[in-house]
Amino acid sequence: MVPFRRAILALQGYIPGEQPKEKGFVKLNTNENPYPPSPKVTAAIYEFLSSSSLALYPPPLSDTVRQKAASVYGVPEEWVLVGNGSDELLDLVVRVFVEKETRVVYPVPTYTYYRVLTLIQGGTPYEIPFPEDFSLPREFVTASGHLKFLCNPNSPTGTFIPPEDVERVLEASSCPVVVDEAYVDFAPSSTLPLLERYENLIVVRTLSKSFSLAGLRIGFLFAHPYIIRELVKVKASYNVNILSQIGAYAALEDFEHARENIRRIKKTREWFSQRMEELGFFVYPSEANFVFVRRKGINLFFLYEELKRRKILVRYFPEWPDALRISIGTDRDMELLCAHIENILKERSHV
Ligand SMILES: Cc1ncc(COP(=O)(O)O)c(C=O)c1O
Repeated sequence: MVPFRRAILALQGYIPGEQPKEKGFVKLNTNENPYPPSPKVTAAIYEFLSSSSLALYPPPLSDTVRQKAASVYGVPEEWVLVGNGSDELLDLVVRVFVEKETRVVYPVPTYTYYRVLTLIQGGTPYEIPFPEDFSLPREFVTASGHLKFLCNPNSPTGTFIPPEDVERVLEASSCPVVVDEAYVDFAPSSTLPLLERYENLIVVRTLSKSFSLAGLRIGFLFAHPYIIRELVKVKASYNVNILSQIGAYAALEDFEHARENIRRIKKTREWFSQRMEELGFFVYPSEANFVFVRRKGINLFFLYEELKRRKILVRYFPEWPDALRISIGTDRDMELLCAHIENILKERSHV
C-alpha cells in the first residue's frame, strides 16, 4: 500500500445528503430549492453554446460574474472572489489560514464540513456547544483561535444570530471570522454591511439555495482585498467553468426571479412549522429554507426510514437521533409529507 498522510487515514470524510438514483422521490434532504431557476440561466447557456467555443479556458477570476456580484451586493470588485460552489471557498479559506496545531473555532451543532476541512489541514477543531436556545455562545466570542466559523442561519437548526451579535465576535477576535451565509436570503439580514468596518470578516454565500442553482456550483466570498489576494494565490487557476460563469451572470441579472421563490418558500416554511408543532414536534425557529424538528428522547430513524420507503427523503443525522432536518419544498410536497407523518405516527401511536 502507498503511504498516506496520517490525518487523511484517520479522517471520517464529509457525508453528503443522499441523491437517489431512482426517480420519483420528493427530495427534502439537501436543502435544494423546489422551484426551477430563472429561465434566463438556461437561455444564456444555450446561447453561449451555439455561438462560442468550449476550446478556450474560462476567465480565471470569473470577471463578468465578479463585477455583477460586486454591483448586486454593493461592494467593490476587488472584494469578491467567485468559487466553484461555496464549499470550494470554505476549503480555500481553511487551506490559507489553517495548519498543524492551529485552532479552528465554531459553535456546534453546525455544518460538519468545517470539521472535515480543519482535520484535512491537520488543524484542531475547537467546538463550542450552542446553548439550548441557539443564541450566540459567550465562549465563541472570547475564544482564541486562528479561524472562526459561524454558519448563519445555522445548519441543521435554521436558527439565526442577529448581525449585532456577530459584530461582538468580530470585535473580540483578532483572527479571520467566516460567516457562512449559504441560507441568508431566507433570513432577515446579512452581515455584508459590516465588511467595511471589520477587516477580519469573510462572508461566504452561494447560488445553490435561493437561486435554485445547486447543480451550477457557484459561490461568492466577500472580504477585504488583502485577504482576497492571498486566497487567489492558492485557488485552482480555472476554478469556475465557463458555462457556470455564463449561468451565474444571468441568474444575478434576474434576482427578482429568486426573490419570488424566496417569498414562496418563507410562506410555506411558516405554515409547515406550525403544522409540525401541531403534530407534536418541537420546531426550532427557522430563518432558512429548512426546519429542524425534534421529538425529545425519541429516535426518529424509524420515521426517516418509513418516509424513505414512501419515497420522501428527509435528513437524519445519527449524531442528533431525535431530530430530522426537513427542506422546504412546494406546498404540495409539504402537504404530502405532513399527511404521511401523521399517518406513520398514528400507526406507531406516538400521536
Ligand atoms: C451551511 C452550508 N454552507 C455551504 C454549503 C455548500 O454550498 P455550495 O457548495 O453548494 O455553495 C452548504 C450546502 O448544503 C451548507 O449547508
